[in-house]
Amino acid sequence: MAKILLVDDERSIRKTLTLFLEIENHKVESASNVEDALALLVNNTYDLIISDVIMSGKSGLDLLKSVRDTGLDTPVIIMTGEPTVETAVLGIQYQASDYLSKPVERHEFLRVIRRVLDVKQLVDDKKQLEIENEQYQKNLEALVENRTAALIEASAGVVSLLAKVIEYRDPYTAGHQRRVGNLAAEIALNMGLNTKQIEDVRIIGYVHDVGKIVVPSEILSKPGRISDVEMALIKEHAQAGYEMLIEAGLPKEYALAVGQHHERYNGTGYPNKLSHKDVLLESKILVVADVVEAMISHRPYRPARTLETAMEEIEQNKGILYDPDVVNACIRLLKQKNYAVDDTAHKIQITREEYN
Ligand SMILES: [Fe+2]
Repeated sequence: MAKILLVDDERSIRKTLTLFLEIENHKVESASNVEDALALLVNNTYDLIISDVIMSGKSGLDLLKSVRDTGLDTPVIIMTGEPTVETAVLGIQYQASDYLSKPVERHEFLRVIRRVLDVKQLVDDKKQLEIENEQYQKNLEALVENRTAALIEASAGVVSLLAKVIEYRDPYTAGHQRRVGNLAAEIALNMGLNTKQIEDVRIIGYVHDVGKIVVPSEILSKPGRISDVEMALIKEHAQAGYEMLIEAGLPKEYALAVGQHHERYNGTGYPNKLSHKDVLLESKILVVADVVEAMISHRPYRPARTLETAMEEIEQNKGILYDPDVVNACIRLLKQKNYAVDDTAHKIQITREEYN
């Protein structure tokens, strides 16, 4: 059942067509001129408008134009006893749905009405689907957004936890990871890397020695010489760190960088003796930050070395053990007046890119 507005200045035609439509269970409202029809359209919504073209006063084409001008896309069928090319052209221009010649024959009239209403139904269904689809997309995006935010927060928590875990077991190097992370981030900044890379390097630094959890604490805290067996156990921490980060669901790039943080530029590092071409830039930065921080920090079994000594070490081994670009950036940094490694615990900033 459709709600139809019928516009014709001839009462008998309005009556007949209303009868045809009502037999088909449609609800019909009628107007005898364009003004009355427009007044009805202000407060009513119709599924279809059927309008005579030639009427006293404004024509059905004027009505059609007004309807379109107000932005309504209600289907309109126009009827005329004097069909002309001009009427047909205007009808098309203002998107009339169909065109009926008068006198209107009942069977043909109802066939056209049914066809136009069927098309309207299809258009309405399509619109509804589009609305639902758009809503679904929005809901989906919101869901992904929320899940990603939750995942990032959880991951930041995991990083903080992992960063602390090793400090409990290895008090000699308490704060080492934090300072290495901050120094590595400063080197990255000095190398002109972008914010994401800088923060990634910091995070990787904060957890780079987490694999030491697999090393017996008496070895970690042993002040004297360590045996080959003990050294072999210590060396396992790089691979163990990689596996722990993967297990914890952190971005694979972090895990890889942690796994490579004892590789050396000339391929003499561990665990895989990787050539510098195969080592991540993050790891190359970490290697230098790790060495420098270790040298300039006090240890129970030896005093801290000077910044100059640390600079000599990395300069002498530039292109041998350490990446030249990283060494140059680090030396630029250390030469800054009164340079001291940043010891603050920065907020973990994992970017969304890692989860896209
Ligand atoms: Fe390490």
